[in-house]
Order: sequence, then structure tokens, then C-alpha cells
Amino acid sequence: GAPVEISLNGIAPGTMITAEWQGKPVWVIHRTQAMIDGLTKNDSHLADPKSERPDYTPDFAKNEGRSRKPEWFICVGICTHLGCSPSPRFAIGGSEGMGSDWEGGFLCPCHGSHFDLAGRVFKNQPAPDNLLIPPYYFVDDNTVMVG
Ligand code: FES
Repeated sequence: GAPVEISLNGIAPGTMITAEWQGKPVWVIHRTQAMIDGLTKNDSHLADPKSERPDYTPDFAKNEGRSRKPEWFICVGICTHLGCSPSPRFAIGGSEGMGSDWEGGFLCPCHGSHFDLAGRVFKNQPAPDNLLIPPYYFVDDNTVMVG
């Protein structure tokens, strides 16, 4: 499929958009500094915190944020269990009642898998793997090409 150009203009910190690439939803999340700082907090609760398993994380995203830039998180928004689309569970200044240990992330409505703000799955969830990071690069500061 053809690469898809996504404009980052207007995606406020703490919010996200959903684009489409190869018929799949691609999320673009503008992480705040607090969201970035929170990424390390739950490592011990994650199934694959360093994203070492093959196929889901390109080399450029083998870092804490699973991204090229800490403030921009881009992934395919399809659960690695049976393919539902997880829902965002985060907000500026709070994590929408998900509990005090929860920095926010994504919750799959089908069987309850939890993912953090880098798309990393928590331990003992139905989903076996972290969310897929697609190939992408920054054309300039405000434009990403996915594909
Ligand atoms: Fe997401 Fe089953 S499809 S938990």
C-alpha cells in the first residue's frame, strides 16, 4: 500500500488522532512530558517492557517510548489478541479513574487487555504482544509519513 502522510498540526499535547494506513487504524498520540516520564513506572508489570519480541517493534522504536521522538507515539491501533481496537484511557491531569498505579493507556473492550502509553501490554492479559509499530519517518517537524 501507499505511504500515508499525516499532519501533526493541531494535535494538542495529551490528545490523539486516528489515521488510516493499509486499511488499519494508526494512532498518533501527542504525549505530554508527564506521560513520557510515566513510561518507566510500570516496566515490572509489562509483558515485554523492552519490546524485545520480534515482529512488533522496528529497530528505531526499541526504546522506552517505542518511538522516534518521545512526544509522538505512533502505532497500529489493533489489539494483538483477536484484533479489536482498544480505547484510549488517558486525559491531561488524570487517568480517568483507572486506579492510582495506572498512568493511562489503552483498554481493549473485547477481553480487557491493558496497554500503556507506548502500546506495551501488561502481564497476564489476553493480548500476547505489544501493539504494532508501523514503519514511519518524519518529513519535517509537523509531518509524518507512515508506510
Ligand atoms: Fe483485545 Fe481480546 S481482542 S483483548
